[in-house]
Amino acid sequence: MAVRLDGAALAARIKAHIRKEAAALPCPPMLAVVLAGEDPASLVYVRGKERDCAECGIRTQTHRLTAEVSQEELLALVDALNRDEDVDGILVQLPLPEGLNSWPILHALSPEKDVDCFHPLNAGLLALGEPRFLPCTPAGVLELLDAYAIPIRGRHCLILGRSLLVGRPLAQLLTSRDGTVTLCHSQSQNLPALTRQADILISAAGRPGLVTADMVKPGAAVIDVAINHGADGKLTGDVDFPAVEPVAGFLTPVPGGVGPMTRACLLQNVLRAARSRRLP
Ligand code: GUN
Repeated sequence: MAVRLDGAALAARIKAHIRKEAAALPCPPMLAVVLAGEDPASLVYVRGKERDCAECGIRTQTHRLTAEVSQEELLALVDALNRDEDVDGILVQLPLPEGLNSWPILHALSPEKDVDCFHPLNAGLLALGEPRFLPCTPAGVLELLDAYAIPIRGRHCLILGRSLLVGRPLAQLLTSRDGTVTLCHSQSQNLPALTRQADILISAAGRPGLVTADMVKPGAAVIDVAINHGADGKLTGDVDFPAVEPVAGFLTPVPGGVGPMTRACLLQNVLRAARSRRLP
């Protein structure tokens, strides 16, 4: 039976540490959140981030805009937040409402305040192995593996999903940690034959039921990054949890696995940004 990787408990320990570190700064850190429109999942995520920050002594300011906001108005807000000395980190909640182009907006963020690690400069630093910020979900996955002493060096790490926000940066981080990395996607052929070779199997595809027991090497660590919203309102990952649990060595639940770790890693980035801005 797989050991459950308890992301909620680990995130709570990380948050307690961040709270202490934030209190030691000359002024509490400030995260600015930009929320355009009323995407229900985004509303839940933003409320969660506000709550996390409050628990850790991090101030927040949430800029709520209607779905009709123009590209120019959003760019003007980002520009004002970039110049605001009291703001340490800026998070533009995605997805933006239809009709808005998110890339120019993310590119307009000050790289020093880009706590999501979405700006091309920060993505480039990560690719060069010299990261300023770590992207939150990939960093959360690594923290979880480390906390349970799951080795990466020399192990076959297979990622399902090549997204710019998760799959690709995760491949870079695991490569930097000497993992042997395979990055699979919707066009990959013979998936089960590939996944059965993985010592660490990470699914970030957003397809419920994608990872079945026959795709898992006995004893492997299986990390489920996906958060799929079922028609019944329930959250599920990509992994068929009951079927995979007896085969895997380690397994993350959804919810309570990677999700809380992503949130904790965002707080770490806000703390990092505040430190580099507020300490001599
Ligand atoms: N929407 C869903 N996940 C994220 C995230 O990690 N950052 C931002 N900015 N938006 C998101």
